[in-house]
Amino acid sequence: MSVQENFYCVAPMMGKTDNFFCYLLELINNKVLIYTEMMHAETIIRTNILENYSILNNIEKVAIQIAGSKPDRLAIAAKKAANFGFNEININCGCPSKRVVSGSFGINLLLQPDLVRECVEEISNKTSKQISIKTRIGVDQYISENILDNFLLELNKANVSKYIIHARVALRKKLNTKENLNIPALNYERVYKLKKKFRNNKIIINGGFKNTKYDNQIIKKIDGIMIGREAYKNPWIFNLDLTYNDLDKKKLIINSYLDFLKNNFKKYLFNKNALFHIQNIFNGYQGSKKWRQNVSSAIKNKDLNNLLKFIDCDNIKLI
Ligand SMILES: Cc1cc2nc3c(=O)[nH]c(=O)nc-3n(C[C@H](O)[C@H](O)[C@H](O)COP(=O)(O)O)c2cc1C
Repeated sequence: MSVQENFYCVAPMMGKTDNFFCYLLELINNKVLIYTEMMHAETIIRTNILENYSILNNIEKVAIQIAGSKPDRLAIAAKKAANFGFNEININCGCPSKRVVSGSFGINLLLQPDLVRECVEEISNKTSKQISIKTRIGVDQYISENILDNFLLELNKANVSKYIIHARVALRKKLNTKENLNIPALNYERVYKLKKKFRNNKIIINGGFKNTKYDNQIIKKIDGIMIGREAYKNPWIFNLDLTYNDLDKKKLIINSYLDFLKNNFKKYLFNKNALFHIQNIFNGYQGSKKWRQNVSSAIKNKDLNNLLKFIDCDNIKLI
């Protein structure tokens, strides 16, 4: 894997980076670090949600994102995740959704660095896995640089080494969750400045990145780039060897994914999300519209055979 590839990772996304998407990404490039969708500490403790990830061959390349704000509960959940084999424990300190905000975790935690430090200390007592924090550059009216600087200063006391910063302020009351992904404008300079100040921390920038081929102008300013929506729309960007013309290799990968799903659905329940992950996978090729329609039918009929036939019959072609 090239340095370039190592530099990029996949963002946690509810309803998107589930166990099946992790599996798909593993087929595309099993060396890329991917963050799971957020799982609440209580869900991890009380249910067998982690078992879903036993389908992966390479769980040590997967970071789990945990939500919550009770140090002892986060620590128990983190230990369970560490024992399961996850590579890194990421704490969600950036989500502005109403449910999360009313539950007093997510972005609220940016304003409670002492509490997050306690959480990290408790987790560190229970596991030696790397702990990282994902947050934003500010929240509501709390946008002075001191807010984020103090947050890092406090967490560095608990030896957090890695921070993922969504380069956008969250507006808890004014915007809904979706709007908070696009408004207000991104401010990359703020994140580059943070990196300059916290040289010894690994600072990963997030928000609005669209490919895995950024030039040195950006790469030298930061330790890594996390990609969210574009990673979901077009996960092929994580395999630099696969070009537009490598359609046959792409078909083989999707074939393997479908074979895997067929077996999985024999043992467990049919899961339509697993198919949504590949609905747009052939966008840009001839036949992509038909492919999308076939994926919808497969979901409706709970049957993957037509999709497998569709690929075999050479219905998807270079334009
Ligand atoms: C559908 C969706 C679900 C998301 N779920 C989470 C989540 O569970 N945890 C989290 O920290 N961020 C979540 N995010 C935010 C992303 O991780 C990322 O910060 C954001 O999309 C900006 O990156 P992008 O511009 O590359 O998409 C979500 C974003 C989307 C689009």
